[in-house]
Amino acid sequence: MFAPVKRTGNYEGDAESFLEAASSYLEEERDVYHEFAELANISALIYSFLPDLNWAGFYLFDGQKLVVGPFQGEPACVEIRLGRGVCGTAAERRETLIVPDVSKFPSHIACSGKSRSEIVVPILKKDGTLYGVIDLDSPLLNRFSEYEKDLLESLAELISR
Ligand code: SME
Repeated sequence: MFAPVKRTGNYEGDAESFLEAASSYLEEERDVYHEFAELANISALIYSFLPDLNWAGFYLFDGQKLVVGPFQGEPACVEIRLGRGVCGTAAERRETLIVPDVSKFPSHIACSGKSRSEIVVPILKKDGTLYGVIDLDSPLLNRFSEYEKDLLESLAELISR
């Protein structure tokens, strides 16, 4: 069952609670409806856990392009080609991208004028193929650090299990 995240005021110390809560959502994956329900809950978990976000969610790979999945925040572009934007670039390279200032990322796709910085973490399936990406946007410049990289890479591992 759902393990609520403990808020201590020092959110960095709560990474373990966050990952515990996330894995409690992922226990009973059964079909595509439940998979989407789980990702919806996890996007809400991220959005309530990490301060200073204006978008948190998933883009899922359909075999050719990324398609927006469950998220929190303003409506977003539906499709992103591999190699395009921060999401498509991280997906194509299969590596985490931290963009401290999105205005300096040449192919950044501005879904919201509020976004100033962004982190995108690829999710790979057990066989190494691309499942999708976790995408977080912030209205603050330089919002994301190694802390979010480690946290979200651990989350991506949990999701791909
Ligand atoms: N900024 C992203 C597009 C998705 S939105 O941030 C929700 C990008 O450049 O890939």
